[in-house]
This record gives sequence, structure tokens and C-alpha cells, in this order.
Amino acid sequence: MGGVVIEVQELIELAKIAREKAYVPYSKFKVGAALLSASGTVYLGCNIENAAYSPTNCAERTAIFKAVSEGERAFKALAVVADSEQIITPCGVCRQVLAEFIDDDTMIYLANMQGDMCQVTISELLPKAFRGEDYGL
Ligand code: THU
Repeated sequence: MGGVVIEVQELIELAKIAREKAYVPYSKFKVGAALLSASGTVYLGCNIENAAYSPTNCAERTAIFKAVSEGERAFKALAVVADSEQIITPCGVCRQVLAEFIDDDTMIYLANMQGDMCQVTISELLPKAFRGEDYGL
């Protein structure tokens, strides 16, 4: 049990480190993510904004795309950190992308810089998600 707590805190600390790399000249709102793969590698992600706004990539998608592009397909846990009074939750686009690669066995930890944290599952974030199985995969 103690080991699990340390692992969660470590993942949150890594998400904070990822957050420092955020490229956010428009919103100034830095978000960091740390994604633990089944193989034990942690992939970091930050939000990367764009002058045209819509190409902006959230921290969660940066982390998952980095991992998938390195061949990872299974994930144990994801931590997301922002500096907000209320804990933020992933946007709709990120929920759909996460649902492609994770199920309810993947722990999702959402935290702020003040030390508040909550744990959610992908089916809480995106109930009845559309997945490849839905058209026969
Ligand atoms: N953002 C994330 O990176 N992750 C979230 O969970 C919510 C929003 C980013 C997108 C944009 O760069 C900034 O936060 C403000 O919306």
C-alpha cells in the first residue's frame, strides 16, 4: 500500500516537471502529464499551443502520442497537473484519445499545485466511449 502511494506521488511530481516545459504563450496556463506504460517507462507531456489556437495539443495527448509513437500500447497510470484552484479534468478530445488506449484498469490522477488530488477512470470521464470494437475491431 505504501509503495503505491509513493508511486502516485512520484508520477504527480513528474507531471509537475513536465508542466514546466509547457509552451503556452496564449493562455499562459501550463499543464503537465506523466504517463506510466505497462513496460514501466514514464512518458512526459506538456501542452503546446499554436498561434492558430485549434492545433493546440494538450498535455495528456502529448504524453500519449509520445508513448504510442515509441511503440507503447498499454498503460498503468496517468497523472495530470495544472495550477488551478479546482482540479482540472481532461478536455473532450483528450478523453476520446485516452479511451483508445486505456481502460478502467488505468489509474488517472488529477492534481493541482496545492496538493489536491482526485482519482478517476476513463469510463467516468467518457461513459459509453466510441471505440474500434464498435465497428468490429
Ligand atoms: N489543457 C491541457 O493541456 N490539458 C487539460 O486537461 C485541459 C486544458 C491546455 C490546453 C490549452 O493549452 C490550455 O490548457 C488552456 O485551455
